[in-house]
Formats: sequence, C-alpha cells, structure tokens
Amino acid sequence: MNSQQESASGTDRNPRPNWPSTAGARAVGGDDLPLSKYFSEPMPSDVFPENGMPARDAYDLIHLGLRVDGQPSMNLASFVTTWMEPEAKMIIAEAEHTNHIDHEEYPIASHIESVCIKMLGDLWNAPDPVDCVGVATVGSSEAIMLGLLAHKFNWRAKREAAGLAADKPNVVFGAETHIMWDKFARYFDVEMRKIPMAPDRYVLDPDEVLEHVDENTIAVGAVLGTTFIGETDPIEELNDRLVELKSEKGWDIPIHVDAASGGFITPFSRPEERWDFRLEQVATINASGHKYGLVFPGIGWLVFRNRQLLPEDLIFSVNYLGGAQPTFTFNFSRGSAMVQAQYYNFLRLGRRGYTAVVENMLANAKYLNEVLESSGRFEILNPELPEPVVTFRLKEGAATYDEFQLADRLRYHGWIVPAYTLPPNAEHISVMRVVIRNDMSRDKLEMLVWSIAAAMAHLDESGSSQTPSERKTHEAQRQRC
Ligand SMILES: Cc1ncc(COP(=O)(O)O)c(C=O)c1O
Repeated sequence: MNSQQESASGTDRNPRPNWPSTAGARAVGGDDLPLSKYFSEPMPSDVFPENGMPARDAYDLIHLGLRVDGQPSMNLASFVTTWMEPEAKMIIAEAEHTNHIDHEEYPIASHIESVCIKMLGDLWNAPDPVDCVGVATVGSSEAIMLGLLAHKFNWRAKREAAGLAADKPNVVFGAETHIMWDKFARYFDVEMRKIPMAPDRYVLDPDEVLEHVDENTIAVGAVLGTTFIGETDPIEELNDRLVELKSEKGWDIPIHVDAASGGFITPFSRPEERWDFRLEQVATINASGHKYGLVFPGIGWLVFRNRQLLPEDLIFSVNYLGGAQPTFTFNFSRGSAMVQAQYYNFLRLGRRGYTAVVENMLANAKYLNEVLESSGRFEILNPELPEPVVTFRLKEGAATYDEFQLADRLRYHGWIVPAYTLPPNAEHISVMRVVIRNDMSRDKLEMLVWSIAAAMAHLDESGSSQTPSERKTHEAQRQRC
C-alpha cells in the first residue's frame, strides 16, 4: 500500500506528504510561472517533508502565509520596535551571520557590546561608567534573571563569609512588576515576597517594602515604566528608606531597577529625575533595547553599577582584548545583529536624537489622552504620562459594554489594543492600553481615534459585539485574574 492509499484508508494518522519531487516543479503548463502548483498542495504540518521545493516557491508560501498575521504597526499592545531606518537594516543584514558569542572570531562585534554598556552606564549616571560591566541579552527578561541571580550569589557569599545561614533567600517586589520576576523566584528557588497593589495605588509603597525585607533579602525590585499602567515606582524614596535601614540594621539591600521601557525614556524626557545609579542602593538596571531603545526584537541590556557587583562565579572570561571581558548569558550562540543595531542608534541619534524621538512620542500620547478625556467617556489612569503609554478605562456608567468588548470591536478595524484587569488587589479594574511607538504618526493616531469612535458608535447601537458565550468567557477570564 502506498502512502496515499494508507492515508485514504484512514489507517495512518500522520501520512508523509506526498509532495511532488523538486524536478519539474516549475513546469506548470510548461512555463516558469509564479505561485506554482504548491499552492494547491497542503503544507506539511507534523511530518518532515520528503522532498524540497524551489527557493522561490518556499519564499512565496511563507511570505504570503505570514501576511495573514496582524500588522505589527497596528499592534498597539506591544512596546517592541516595528520600524528602523534603512541604514540600520543594512547593518542588521551585514551582521546577521555573526554569532555574537564567538568573541575570538568577532572581537570588534563584542567590543561594541562593551562600548554600549559603558554608554548606558553613562546615560544612567554611574559614578564611573568605565567601571560598569554588563551584558547584552535577548531582552529584559533574561537581563532581569541574570541581575537577580547575581544578587543571589552576592548575598550568599556575604552570608557564608560571615558564617551565617544562606539557605533562605527572598526577593521583594510589587505586583506591578512583569511576570519575569515571578519566574525568577520560581526558577531559581528564591522566596517571592510580592506586595499586592491597592485599589487606588498601582505602584510600590516604600513602607510596605520595609515591612517585607529582612536579612535574607537578596534584592528589592522597582520598575521604571510599569507594564500595566506605564507608571513609575517611587524609586528615590525607596532608596532613601533602604539607606536608612542599612545604617540602622546593617542590611545592605540592593535595588534592581527594571527599566525595560523607562530606561530609554526618562533619561531623555526628565533627565533630572533620580531613579538610576545616582541612588546609592541601585546596583543593577535592565532595559529592553527592542522597546524604546528603538531596535527590532532580540536585544536587552543588563548593567552593573561597578564590576565588584558582578560575582566572579558567574563570569566566563575571555582576555584577548587586553583585559577580562565578562560574559555571562543563559544562551551560548546568539545573533550579533541587534547589538550592532543598538550601537547604530546610539551613534546615529545621540542624546539629542533620542530626546527628539521621545518628545514626539510623548506629544502624541498626550494628544490621545486629551482626545479620550474630552470625549467624556473615558478616565485616564496615568495623566502625567511618564511614558508614551496611554492607559484608560470607560467611565462608570459611560457605556453598556466593557473594555474587553471595545478591544474586541477595535480588532474589526485592524487595531490591537489590549484590555486587561489589574493584578491583586486592583483586579476589579479593567483597563485598555495604547503603547505609542516611534512609528506612530499623528495621522495614524487620528485613524485610531476614528476607529475608537466608530467602534463605540457600533457598540452603542448594538449593545455588544460579543455573543453571550464570548461574554461569559471574558467574565470568567476576569474572575481568574
Ligand atoms: C516592566 C517590564 N519588565 C520586563 C519586561 C520583559 O521584557 P522583554 O520582552 O524585553 O523580555 C517587560 C515587557 O513588556 C516590561 O514591561
């Protein structure tokens, strides 16, 4: 029985696709026609294809298939960069074959990584940027994990040196943090002391932090630009309280600042704001190069205030550049292209360029805030806009539908604007969030505003864009959150 017969008889649930052989695959009607006969063949989905196909066909199939996905530039849920200059793309194309871990072979590529780290140390006001060390990561998630791991090692080394027990580390942070913080605690076996939000406060309260820390606290987490609302934890106040605690009890508890999005906003929009290495307890900072660092996905940064804070045990050292170059990542091989693209942006934009981009984004965010507010139907959650992130909710009694239904209807217009509930103890509050990126022009924003108005007009008339069962699912999701 051949595979076609087997499949027809229903005895083989995973038939090997009976692809035509490569030979003659282009000979549709005897011509080299585009969009060949593969377009009428099912694509293999769970078995390895037996035959190959012409490069052009493989390209067309994948390229046209991917077009079904959402438009990245209309995905306003994501902070991740969707536009870069053509010259940046040239650098990316030139570096795409470079394995960044291979420092021996690509010393310039890895030198550029350490240059970026010193530049970030300077941007974040390290006492001596030359003494800053760190690492380029895949994103902020890896950077947060590595930073906290370093704090765990430092804490353990200190405890052991003092002859004290080192088996019960804990980490203190608020519910406003990204899920990566919970992951760190679970993956690396550290007790998570997570402080809930309050119904009317969505950032950390330093008093509560003080109630949660003790001699086994490896670090306290603070966020510059929260994922949920785009607000900022009171980092300076937190620092001052931990400095006091250090002098009272001798507990020297470092702060790790998760500046995933704010690390490339605040230095340009409010350079006088003290959230960074100007504060004594701020030991490590992470940021996502692929968010407001304005680079395509695949780049994050972890920077240490000074090299003493990076535990030797975590470093794998290479010394060909005349000094030890610390490398410590979870991955071994990784592409170098986004590191080089980040360097391109630093050179290309400088402080003035980043400031101009940030000002544009903030002006557009302010505009959207004002339009939504003036409609009389929305409440804005972060009117001060520390970040170009507009977070809003329907006013009490302003509609017969909720934020989930509005988000759902906006999809009909092609926009992805997420609706979600806040973490405990503010889970009864649902919000919507628009992340303004560098590719959001005022014209495009007007189209979004138009779509929001059209979506609401539709919902006002129909009452709901959801079937009763969709509505039930949303309710259930909300109760689970
Ligand atoms: C505050 C915060 N931390 C960490 C992350 C994770 O960042 P990445 O996607 O770069 O790993 C995010 C992502 O949105 C974030 O908002």
